Order: sequence, then structure tokens, then C-alpha cells
Amino acid sequence: VAIRREDYSAPAYWIDTVDLTFDLDPAKTRVLNRMRLRRNPQVAPEPLRLDGDELNLARVLVDGQGASFRMEADQLVIDNLPDTFELEIFTTCCPNKNTKLMGLFVSEDTFFTQCEAEGFRRITYFLDRPDVMASYTVTIRASKAAYPVLLSNGNLVEQGELPEGRHFAKWVDPFRKPSYLFALVAGKLVAREQRIKARSGKEHLLQVYVRAGDLDKTEHAMNSLINSVMWDEARFGLSLDLDRFMIVATSDFNMGAMENKGLNIFNTKYVLANQATATDADYSNIESVVGHEYFHNWSGDRVTCRDWFQLSLKEGLTVFRDQEFSQDLCAEASARAVKRIEDVRVLRTAQFPEDAGPMAHPVRPDSYIEISNFYTVTIYEKGAEVVRMMQTLVGRKGFERGITLYFERHDGQAVTCDDFAQAIADANPDSDLARLLPQFKRWYSQAGTPRLTAHGVYDAAARTYTLSFVQSCPPTPGQPVKEPFVIPVNIGLLGTDGRELPVQLEGDAEATQGTRTLVLTRAGEQLTFVNVDAEPVPSILRGFSAPVILDYEYSDAQLLTLLANDTDPFNRWEAGQRLALRAALHAIATPGDAHEPPLNHAFIEAMRSVLRHPQLDAAFKELVLTLPSETYIAEQLDVVDPQRVHAVREAMRGQLATALFADWEQAYEQNRDTGAYAPDPVSSGRRALAGMALVNLCLAARTSGDAVWPGKTLQRFKDAGNMTDRFNALSALVSSGHALAAQALARFHEIFKNEALVIDKWFSLQAGAPDRGGDILPLVRQLMKHPDFSIKNPNRARSVIFSYCNANPGALHRTDAAGYVFWSDRVIELDAINPQVAARLARALDRWSKLAEPYRSAAREAIARVAARPDLSKDTLEVVTRALAI
Ligand code: ARG
Ligand code: ZN
Repeated sequence: VAIRREDYSAPAYWIDTVDLTFDLDPAKTRVLNRMRLRRNPQVAPEPLRLDGDELNLARVLVDGQGASFRMEADQLVIDNLPDTFELEIFTTCCPNKNTKLMGLFVSEDTFFTQCEAEGFRRITYFLDRPDVMASYTVTIRASKAAYPVLLSNGNLVEQGELPEGRHFAKWVDPFRKPSYLFALVAGKLVAREQRIKARSGKEHLLQVYVRAGDLDKTEHAMNSLINSVMWDEARFGLSLDLDRFMIVATSDFNMGAMENKGLNIFNTKYVLANQATATDADYSNIESVVGHEYFHNWSGDRVTCRDWFQLSLKEGLTVFRDQEFSQDLCAEASARAVKRIEDVRVLRTAQFPEDAGPMAHPVRPDSYIEISNFYTVTIYEKGAEVVRMMQTLVGRKGFERGITLYFERHDGQAVTCDDFAQAIADANPDSDLARLLPQFKRWYSQAGTPRLTAHGVYDAAARTYTLSFVQSCPPTPGQPVKEPFVIPVNIGLLGTDGRELPVQLEGDAEATQGTRTLVLTRAGEQLTFVNVDAEPVPSILRGFSAPVILDYEYSDAQLLTLLANDTDPFNRWEAGQRLALRAALHAIATPGDAHEPPLNHAFIEAMRSVLRHPQLDAAFKELVLTLPSETYIAEQLDVVDPQRVHAVREAMRGQLATALFADWEQAYEQNRDTGAYAPDPVSSGRRALAGMALVNLCLAARTSGDAVWPGKTLQRFKDAGNMTDRFNALSALVSSGHALAAQALARFHEIFKNEALVIDKWFSLQAGAPDRGGDILPLVRQLMKHPDFSIKNPNRARSVIFSYCNANPGALHRTDAAGYVFWSDRVIELDAINPQVAARLARALDRWSKLAEPYRSAAREAIARVAARPDLSKDTLEVVTRALAI
């Protein structure tokens, strides 16, 4: 059943044009598909094999004549075809029974499609693979009263009335595209519209379609779209190529959003926002996702993937582009650094564990059973880091040249990751990337997170400082041995007084100021700095210049120096994280000292200095004061006792809350008022720090029994002028386990009972709250009985089940194994409804083999219980089979 990359072969037929006619009916939609096909002369003759899935086939005509065909599994097979021919296929499908949300489905009485990766075959028989690109004409017919808006890709060329209260619309997409980019929407929708003029002077119509009550929540998405259009022109010279660009929001969606050509379909979570219902994080996610989907118009749609093994070609590149977009929109350098730290945090807390677990796969995988399982943080976020390293190696201008060459060379084609890397290198023939290209591409072929161990030796007599580096990469499933990577290491040196030192490497004519990029290529190598007056503190891997684990035996004093002084904000933050991690690991390793507080005086004083620092941004302070997550701490251990990790981290949180009480008070007072609401980085950062202060003040109150801050927090909750402040106050009460939480939660539900996305937050906050004595699982079971709960809606299922299973380790891992049993029940229940969502949930126990007993055996048993189910989807089966194979 596994599909292998090395088995790729070009299609035996090409499809030049597709003319689709839809008669929409939720119970039985008719699809007439008329195509012009042509044999691929490059390939030996073979029968035509069209993919289909859950279709009812009524008719097949070749050149207008009834043709003989046969079914082989899900494929429709036709022999003895001429070199070119017309093929007409008539099928029906059942959108209102489509709970998988792939293909054509109904959400709140509106039709939507999701075709990536292999959903188009649920709409009609087709060569459903990305290297078959065709020109589409689409006619949609439906009841005018029930479905007044009829949308598809491209330009609306005709519309009109039909008998019996029906109407039609005809759309023509001016660009050839693979089937996964097809889209159709029909329903009662309204649009925010904006006409913009591009740099070329060309006019475009931008539209954001939502349900009637949501129009007041579309301004931010529209502004994000306008910014995206402008940014891609300015940074990469890539213009909008369509007269009309549409975004449509649906509340039933498996993923975040989808880049269908000219008709992006979004999860409402990444479109709808106003200050009363959306948090700063929501605003920032909307900006990223709108940008991401818009940037796919070039990196994905104009140039697409040859096959699904190349998925990172478009996803890694497009994540990189959306990260750069969000950074470039920041007015302040410090806000750009904050964005970078947030991105790295996602990579290290989600992708590093993936790379070390049973689902580890290269950025360009070698095989898969179900491609939907490979829309992963490795393909997306690690893929973006690989693109970022290319930019580091060729420089920002060189990278822009590379992008220009890539789109010139491959416009209109379906290509590979090799083609991308080659274009960037060819545009920069004298670069380290061009010189090292074959080795650099190991980032695409080898899975696992490389470990880079550095060691520094100062020679006072010679005034030299030598850094030795050793790189290694652990085995991953199917890859026992790894070859060395090309690792760009941005580095600077600090004096013990914290000042940045000039850098002169052996062989350099003179010293340079600031960060240098060293390019490591061997398993072990040494670099010597000359004219160094005293032992320096090395600041290694600045800006997280490569996705590796850096080991360096920093002393506490050196880390405190970096935390207080590093000019690189990433490493400044990282120094604090290393100190906190060290304290956590020490406390975990010495359970005898259960009553010894984990954090020492020096660390607490360093945190106090950051919190009180007159120059540092609130957003940066909030990041520094956030302790490494339980997941990240667990990754550093060979054997994980999740309850011990949870207890130690909670003890550390309690210590920071109490020891810095007065500082939290001050931070709260200084940051609580941010004026008229705007989701910009500076005021968001202030709200984040004020929110963090409230959490700490409520937590400290829990220990001291003081009632003042919980009371003030409840008042803040009631008075808040925006969702960020309101939700932060609510979180502070809930996460400190205060008695006032219950009334705040009830009130919150009452205010927002008609706002689905806010009710998701309400569920998620409770299911994700810190566990105290095993109280979360019973609460989660209660929440699933709430009238607002529905397991069929992915956002709602995620808000309860995932918030517990995938995001609350201290509550999931119970000595009585009840958390795992709950997990297995939900995986099985969801698998019958929506395999993609089930398979994501199944990933929650990826790291089971690291667990200490009794967790380990109990988790394995729960996974085996899922795997033993008959009729499991390919999606879930692949995940649990790989988990058990570790
Ligand atoms: N291409 C979409 C995006 O990154 C995601 C589509 C996910 N589809 C899927 N079947 N998992 O924006
Ligand atoms: Zn994408």
C-alpha cells in the first residue's frame, strides 16, 4: 500500500481541458465532466486509469459513444483509446453525508470543496495527481433561493436564470491547474469588497465572503490580503495575476485554509476577527494564514509540485514567505525578533519531537501510505528553515534573484525540490550554496534533527579562541546512518563584560564587527579566532541559523551574561531558556529534593531584571519569562515521567509567581492600558505581558490565600474592552484554579454563546487547564456532554479533545491509564467520521516509547487497541502502525 517516491512515472495521458457542470443538491449532486485527453507520447501506451472515491457512476462516453470500461478497486479503467479523444463522465455524489470534509461537502447549508491532496476524485473520476494540469470551465446550477452565490476559480463569464427557481453561473479559470486547486462554493454568503490598483496599474477586485452576520469581522482579513498583495510585489516582484481574488470562510474545515486558484477557502478561525471576539494571537494568525494562502498563488499555483513527495516545495517555501511577510510588516526590529523566536519555538516544540519519533520523515519523504498524514511540521516548518538556510547562504538579495529565476524557469510547470534548490544556486553561482549544493540537499533527504556539539578553548598566550564542532544525526525509521549536513552557523563573541567583540578568524586580513556566518560541512571541524584578549562568551547559532540542537557547555555565568547582554535577541532569549531548562532537568533528576525549589536565586534575579528592564519590549519580556513547555522539557529526557515534569514545571511557575510578586504588580500596572484597541506588535506585547502578570498574581494568591488579585482579575474580566484582555483575565482565574473561575466561565459562555469561535476558546481553555489531582479528564468528559459540543465539527472537536490529548500532557498521562483509554476511544470514534482529524489525534501518543512505567505499557496498549480495530482508515492505520513499529 505504500507509495514510493522512486516509483514516480509521468502520466500516460494528459488532460487539456475540463468542462464541469454541477447540479447542486445536498443529498444528490450531479456532476457532468467533459474532458479532452491526449496520450502522453513520452510514455509507452497503457490503459487510462482514472481515480474515484465514493462516487456513483452513471455514464461513460468516449467521443460521444458509449464505451466499455472496468473498475479496478477505486479506479475506472478504459482500454483501446485513440491518441486524442473526448471523455464524458456523469456521476453523482452525496455532499451532506460527506463527514470527511474532502471533496464536495455541505457546511451550514453552504457547499464547499477541499481537493488537496486527493479530494477531487470524490467529485469526479480524474487523473488526480498534481502533474496533470488542465484548463477548467465550470458551470454551477442550483436553487437561487437556497444558494444565491455561486463561485468557482477564475472569472465569472456568464450567469442567469433557469426554470423552477434555479439559476446558474459559469466560471473560466485563465490558468491551467492541477485538480487539487479546483474549488467550488455555493450558498448564502455576503462579501466585503475592495478594489486595489497594483504597481503595474492593473485593477483587481478582492473579496472576502462570509455568512451575513460575520461581515463586521472581515476587515482584518481584507487588510491582510491587501498587505500580502503589496508585499509580494515589493519583496519578490510577484504580482497578482487575476482580475478577481476571493477568500471564503467556512466553520467546518479540516485544516487552516486552502490556496485554490483565485478562490481560497478558509477555516473561519483564520478569517473572522473583531476586537470583541478575537485575541491578538488570532489577529496575528489571520495575517499569517491570509498571507500564506495568497503567496501560494505563485509558490504552489503558478509553479506546483510534480508529485506529493515534493509537498515542501510549495509548503516550506510558502511558510518561509509568510514568516518573512509577518516580519517585514513589523515596524520595529525588536518585533521582528519576537516573531522569529515564536517561529523557532513552534519548530522546537512540535517539529523536533516529530523528527525524533515514529513519524519522522525527511522534508522530501521517500514513501507514504496516506499523503494527508504528511502535512506536517516537518514539511511546513522544517521545510521553511531549509529555505531560510538557503537565504542565509546566498544573502537576501541573492535569494531574491534565485526566486526570480525559479519562477522564470518553471512558470506553469509541476516541479521538484531539486528544481527549486538548483534555481537558487544557479542564480548565485559563486555562493556557498552553489559550491555545496549536493551536500546541502541532504536537508531534503535525511530525517532527524542534527545535534551540533561545540567546545571552546581559549589560549591566553597565543590570544586565540578555538571552537571545535562535532555534528551527528540520530537514526530515524528507515535511515540508520546519516551523512554530515551543511550547517550555517551565525556566531558572535561577547567579552565577559557583555560587550560584543570584533571577530577575526585565522586567515582574515582584519577583524569585523558583529555576526559572522560559518559554514560547517564536516562531521568534525575547528575554527580559530585570533587577537582575542580574554576568554570570550560565544554566542552560537544566532537567529537560530540552522534547525539543529546546539550543545555547548555554557556555565551559568556565561548564560547570565548572554541573557543580560547579547545583541542577538534570539540568543538572548535562548540563554534564559537554557538556564530554565537546566533547572528543570536538575530538579527532575533529583526527586529526593522534592521540596527544594527548582529555581536558584541568580535565575530569579535575572528574570527580575528582564521584567524591570527599562528598554526591553513587553513582548520580548513575555517570551523570556515563559518557561520551556512540558513537551520541550520532556524531549531532553531519555525516560520521561510526565507527572514529574508537570510537577517540576508547576513548582517553577509557582516560584516565579511568588518571588516576583511586586514585579508582576508593577508590570501589570505599567502595561494594563493599551489605549484604543489595535493588534500591532507593540500593544499586543503589552497586553501579553499584562496577561502574564495576572496569571502570576493569581497563582501567587493561590499560595498566599490573598483574595485581592483574583478579585481584580474578575473585575478586569468584566470590564475588558477587547477579547485579549478578557480572555487573559479568564485564563488567569482558570489556570490558577481559583474559585472565581466558575462564575467567570459561566458569564463568558452567556455573553458569547452565539460566537462559535469564542465558544471554541471556552472549551479549549478548560480542557487545557493545568491538572490538579486528576481533575481535567472528568471535566473533559463533562464538556463532551455539553449541548454546544459536537465531535463532527473539527474546530469544536479540537477545542475539547485535542486541547486535552495533544496539548495537556500533565492531564493526559495518568497512572490509572484513563487518559489513554479516553484517547483511544476518541480516535476510534473520530476515525469513522473524519479520518484526517482522527489521524491527527492519533499523533498524541507518538512519543510513548520514551515514557517511564507505568505510562509506557499503558500507552502502548492503548495504541495497540486502536490498531486492532477492523476497518480503520489508511490515515489512522499508518500513524498507529508506525507508532507500534518503533
Ligand atoms: N495547502 C494547504 C495550505 O498549506 C493545506 C491543505 C491541507 N490539505 C490536506 N489534505 N491535509 O495552506
Ligand atoms: Zn500551504
